[in-house]
Formats: sequence, structure tokens, C-alpha cells
Amino acid sequence: MDPLENIDGERFDAAFGEAVRDRALRALEAGRVLFFPRLAFVFSADERRFLDPRCSDGRAKNISYDPSSGRLKGTTLTGRERECLQDMVARFAQSARHLVEGLLPSYAPHLGMGRTSYRPVEVKERPSSYRKDDSRLHVDAFPSRPNGGRRILRVFSNVNPDGHGRIWRLGEPFETCARRFLPAIRPPLPGQRWLLSACGLTHGYRSAYDHYMLALHNAMKGDDYFQRHCPQYEVTFPAGTTWMVFTDQVPHAAMAGQYLLEQTFHVPVRGLNEPASAPLSVLERLLGRTLTAATSKSEPLDPRLVRVEE
Ligand code: SIN
Ligand code: FE
Repeated sequence: MDPLENIDGERFDAAFGEAVRDRALRALEAGRVLFFPRLAFVFSADERRFLDPRCSDGRAKNISYDPSSGRLKGTTLTGRERECLQDMVARFAQSARHLVEGLLPSYAPHLGMGRTSYRPVEVKERPSSYRKDDSRLHVDAFPSRPNGGRRILRVFSNVNPDGHGRIWRLGEPFETCARRFLPAIRPPLPGQRWLLSACGLTHGYRSAYDHYMLALHNAMKGDDYFQRHCPQYEVTFPAGTTWMVFTDQVPHAAMAGQYLLEQTFHVPVRGLNEPASAPLSVLERLLGRTLTAATSKSEPLDPRLVRVEE
């Protein structure tokens, strides 16, 4: 199966016909990557000075922007230059939003806007511990950002000015991966997740779902044999292209590339066309138990600890 589903369109605010929207929705939820070979995010002449890794402060690998607070983090730039960089990143956030709302209108009423990131640093050069090493196949799950079962939908644009592609690997279907790793993953310890939240180590309560997703993320990245030998595709996203994927569902790894913009969206499982395709539904089926507050009466332990972001 081709892991990419091609979608024609040259504008982020393009009007897509019903047949294309339907094809996109089904392919996306089935775990394919929607690929827009003719959709480029274009920098203005003035913005081209940001095509420089020195924009990043070197501590975080990404420059990140929070559309809800308007805060930009991870850059060394100040004053007018910083404002101009922030405007560019915010413009990408809006463009990505138009694309998702236009192509997947059934998500629009449910869509939560997460962070935007600008990645001006070459992937190969990023120093990382294995858990932070995104050149290892993984599904996305973040230790300090529990999401309680909401989907992670990401839009990426390769803005490389020298024609260099972004090279990814894509792995097996979510359920195949989950079946491979779940038997060795321990259930959460009683009280552990409550403590993490109470001590401020997680932004909100880490549901059992978050526990299993993080364990899956770590187990995949930590398994050298799996990384080398599991069925996988190498895919190059050329400069000047855009793609969209549920990164909580599709195992992916970034092998090479420089200058990328990324926008994260959250979609609740009930907003999906096919809720059974969600990692939450798959894990609950495989484990035979409910994993979030929405699906369980006994969680969270203390409702005051639930602080949903955004
Ligand atoms: C990732 O989402 O794991 C990395 C994607 C990228 O930087 O290309
Ligand atoms: Fe990732």
C-alpha cells in the first residue's frame, strides 16, 4: 500500500470538492499521510533571513509558538526581528488551519489548535537522548503533555530554500505496533499519575491512555532490532510541499532535512468519521479496559486536577 494519498491543491484556503474531501478523510483516519505535492508555504523576501539555524536559541530544537497566547519561544531574535518571525509562524498557523477546515470540514467544530513549530536546524545534527531522537520510528506522545485520548493531527511544510527534501521513514499500522509492544508494557502504578500532576510535572492529569501511549513511544524508540527490521517505507517530502498526518497513529521518523514548519491540532475521538480507528479505541479493545475519564467512571481520581490545555 502506498503510504501517501496525493491531494491536488495549490492554496491553503483552496475549496475542495466533496469527492476529494471524502477520500482525504478516509485515508487520513486509515493511517495514511495526505500529501500535497503542489502546496508550498512561501516566505516573503523579508522573511528569507529566517532561513538560518541561528534563529534558534540552540537549547530547544524547535522555535515554538502558542497561537492561543501569541507567545514565541526558542529564538535568539529580539525586537522587530522577533515580531517579524512571530508573524511568519502565525501566518503558517492560520494557513494550516484553513487547510484542515477546508479539507476536513467535519473536524472544524471540534478542532483544538496546538503549538506551531519552526525547525530551522538540520535533523541529522540534532543531539538527542534516544527518547528525544525523532530519527527513531515512534508514534507521538509527550511526557509533560497528556492529551486524554484526543488525536494529534499535524500539518508540515518543507520550506527548504536549496531544494532539499525532508526524509522520513513510515512504519507499520498502529494496531500491529501496539500488538507487538503491549505485552511488555506494565499498567500504571496506583497514584503515580495523580502525583505527577499534583507536583506540576505534567500539564494536566496523565490518563491511563497517556501512560500506554508514552510507554509505546519509548518502547518503539528503544528497540534497535525493531528500528532496523520492522516493515517500513522511506519517503522524501520535496522542498515546497506540504503533508498532513495523525502522528499519534502513524509510526514515523525524521531522517534528514532542514527548515520545516509544523502545526499541531487536537481532535477528540468523537469528532472522527471512524472513531474505531483512533489509538484510544484500538488500545481499549486490545487491553479490554477503558483508558480515559471520558470512557471510565473511576477516572480521574480528582476532577480538580484536570486542566485541559487551550
Ligand atoms: C517528528 O514529528 O517526529 C519529527 C518530524 C520532523 O521533524 O520532520
Ligand atoms: Fe513525532
